[in-house]
Amino acid sequence: MSAVPVIAIDGPAASGKGTVAAAVARALGFHLLDSGALYRLVALAAMRSGVPLDTEAGLVPLAAGLDARFESGRVQLHGDDVTAAIRDEPVSEGASRVAVHAGVRKALLARQRAFRQPPGLVADGRDMGTVVFPDARVKVFVTASAEARALRRQRQLAERGQEADLGELLDEIRARDARDSRRAVAPLEPAPDAVTLDTTDLTAEAAAAFVLDRYARRAG
Ligand code: CDP
Repeated sequence: MSAVPVIAIDGPAASGKGTVAAAVARALGFHLLDSGALYRLVALAAMRSGVPLDTEAGLVPLAAGLDARFESGRVQLHGDDVTAAIRDEPVSEGASRVAVHAGVRKALLARQRAFRQPPGLVADGRDMGTVVFPDARVKVFVTASAEARALRRQRQLAERGQEADLGELLDEIRARDARDSRRAVAPLEPAPDAVTLDTTDLTAEAAAAFVLDRYARRAG
């Protein structure tokens, strides 16, 4: 399977990596792995079934048995469409809480690697280039200032008809950055061979073009 090329796109919350990953996958006709959605699904499943987010022993079976389907941009959990529900702020926070547990991460590993199918995969997350696909052909670490990311998240929520206070979003993003960066397992950090792309002043199109250019140089 390792002949199948992977483009790993990692970075902090709301850095725009999801948009960039989707655009790159579309341009190349590659599969797309939104690994954050898996952590969000584990958090939602736990919240719905009353499993505390700090009990690894309760979370691991949920992660291992996650009945999730990804189809045409929709996400289902146990047959229920949860595309919008997994983007709610309490679930975002919950995702970063379940993601600190080594057992949860391990339970999701094979499921993530199974997305590596011809002709190629664009994988979006925190540890795509460091842990899940260390042999990725291109590794990009997408960043942006916390302020720019809070604004982007506010715009995203507004598109869904939800109002959110910018200051609160900024606090939430900073808290999640801190939790993601300080955790012992697979902390948020660029792979040694990743290139960092600061998108604070870049459009999503320009960021995607940067990744496509990197891939074109490596593909040959
Ligand atoms: O879209 P956003 O960047 O806000 O979040 P996400 O990519 O959907 O990820 C949600 C949470 O899942 C993150 O805050 C991380 O704690 C966790 N996560 C992770 O630990 N490893 C990944 N590969 C992807 C997400």
